[in-house]
Amino acid sequence: MIENSKNKSMEYATVLKIEEIAPSMMDLWIQSKSIAESTKPGQFLSIYCKDESRLLPRPISICEINQTIDGIRLIFRVVGKGTMEFSNLSAGDSIKVLGPIGNGFSLESKPALIIGGGVGIPPLLELSKRLKEKNITNEIRIVLGYRDNDLFLKEELEKYGEVFVATEDGSVGEKGTVMNVLENMMLNNDLIYSCGPKPMLRAVKNFAKERNIKAQISMEEKMACGIGACLACVCKTKEIDEHSNVHNKRVCVDGPVFYADEIEIDD
Ligand SMILES: Cc1cc2nc3c(=O)[nH]c(=O)nc-3n(C[C@H](O)[C@H](O)[C@H](O)COP(=O)(O)OP(=O)(O)OC[C@H]3O[C@@H](n4cnc5c(N)ncnc54)[C@H](O)[C@@H]3O)c2cc1C
Ligand code: FES
Repeated sequence: MIENSKNKSMEYATVLKIEEIAPSMMDLWIQSKSIAESTKPGQFLSIYCKDESRLLPRPISICEINQTIDGIRLIFRVVGKGTMEFSNLSAGDSIKVLGPIGNGFSLESKPALIIGGGVGIPPLLELSKRLKEKNITNEIRIVLGYRDNDLFLKEELEKYGEVFVATEDGSVGEKGTVMNVLENMMLNNDLIYSCGPKPMLRAVKNFAKERNIKAQISMEEKMACGIGACLACVCKTKEIDEHSNVHNKRVCVDGPVFYADEIEIDD
């Protein structure tokens, strides 16, 4: 199991910059010294709405850190009322956040095969950057799955590794999913890091099992409280959880990153 760090704080962060980088995809930079200093790739923030009718925070992955400006980058798709509210923020606004939350990826000096789909791609940017800039490994291959030709973050990820693309509509790269790319890849003692929609993660887990390779999978399970209290985010595990005595783990506090062989990925 990947250990959770316990350094999160609740605070008001200042919005530095916000822009739309693809239809309904927002690129938001906020400023917080404590979060910028303590974040691991794969951790996330719980972001609170100003509208008090929306009490529950929205979990958004930390996409990138810029320690020079204490900046934290979040990339999110506008899907409902919370993300719509965040998309209307402006530079200078303040926003209530709790974080960094979760365990994050465990970085290992092995060839990295990084696999992301849709809104699972953002946390893979800081992961790729750290693997490369801290010289953890120079062998980085990144497989990205998109719906269409709005290839957000692709060019930035190309700075850190060789990027392969699959699109559902076939407009760029391989037509289909990341699995269509993976089927033709040679693996050499790689470690998989992955984040994306559940069907993709299930396919990645099976792929890793068949080839007997280690995979770290970041689950984007539906959440409510974000602090381990409500059990809205449990996923099934092979082992019995020592706190609850059942085959469950809470993605918000025990994850979001798990070794693929620790968890069951249901429908
Ligand atoms: C660990 C983690 C990291 C995430 N990182 C990103 C990211 O980097 N970029 C991004 O675009 N999206 C990300 N998501 C998904 C994002 O949290 C949801 O899209 C967002 O909460 C939707 O809120 P809403 O109010 O706009 O939508 P609504 O559908 O109105 O939300 C209603 C409620 O359901 C919860 N909810 C709805 N969809 C999800 C979901 N997929 N996951 C968790 N809770 C959900 C909301 O938090 C809220 O409490 C992440 C989810 C998790 C669990
Ligand atoms: S969201 Fe409440 S326990 Fe995880």
